[in-house]
Amino acid sequence: MKGIILAGGKGTRLYPLTQFISKQLLPVYEKPMIYYPLSTLMLGGIRNITIISTPHDLPQYRKLLGDGKKWGLTLSYHQQNKPRGLSDAFIVCKEFIGKDDVSLILGDNIFYGNMRLEEIYQNFNGGALIFGYPVQDPKRYGIIEFDDEGKVIGLEEKPKEPKSKYAIPGLYLYDNRVVEFAESLTPSARGELEITDLNREYLKRGELKVQILGRGIAWLDTGTAESLQDASVFIQSIEKRQSYKIGCPEEIALRMGYIDTDQFLSLVEEMPDCEYNNYLMGIDIELEYAGGKQQMGIRGLQP
Ligand code: G1P
Repeated sequence: MKGIILAGGKGTRLYPLTQFISKQLLPVYEKPMIYYPLSTLMLGGIRNITIISTPHDLPQYRKLLGDGKKWGLTLSYHQQNKPRGLSDAFIVCKEFIGKDDVSLILGDNIFYGNMRLEEIYQNFNGGALIFGYPVQDPKRYGIIEFDDEGKVIGLEEKPKEPKSKYAIPGLYLYDNRVVEFAESLTPSARGELEITDLNREYLKRGELKVQILGRGIAWLDTGTAESLQDASVFIQSIEKRQSYKIGCPEEIALRMGYIDTDQFLSLVEEMPDCEYNNYLMGIDIELEYAGGKQQMGIRGLQP
């Protein structure tokens, strides 16, 4: 399974901030926004990841993330000249995807909680898998319609009169046919290749699975000034209370066994003396080797 992080778009709802910086580079509390979706893919076991952004912003992402080696990843970059909709990601990344399955995550979506991501990715066996998350403002999202027995019968993009409160978060898993399906889509009224139309292709074929994310999982999006601020406060509250950091690629790389203790320590040593590196220096790195896989000693890690 390969991963795509979509970090394009103009971020117009965050003007004037996005005049000079790409939305997904803005801080969510103490980290760049893109660290969070990247962490989600890393926790799912995905290590070959590409980042899509505009020609203007890509150099900044390259500077921040590089080739990913330091975190045991393979990172690459793709350019999207115009925002043509989320489904365009699969056309832009056709060669990168090759013959593999692929997971798309939106660069402004943050997930927190024990989602058992590794299990989800390991168990994926074709078709499409999307998630459903109850929200108070369903009009802002793609929405799932269920029948009386809880079967999915429809999907709608930002409906005026939503048929349920279940929004579709920006994390999607697809089999390799997604490229072909994306190529056959026609743009919507707003001129975009909609992700909801792509998901409908799978629904039509009876190959769309929906997993509901319930209590204990937080899904935050950060597309407006208010939601960005809410997300920062959320991250700050948890980090302050629990003394765990959320969305910290170095820690995840270590816990997942993508890098070893020596690599981790040299990363930490290269950092300036700051709260972030003090945290990393303080985590328990007494690693046990269990079945060849490194595991955190005393403290576990939540995404
Ligand atoms: C996009 C999708 C929508 C999804 C949402 C999640 O909307 O079109 O289906 O629910 O992301 O963040 P956008 O944020 O581009 O308006």
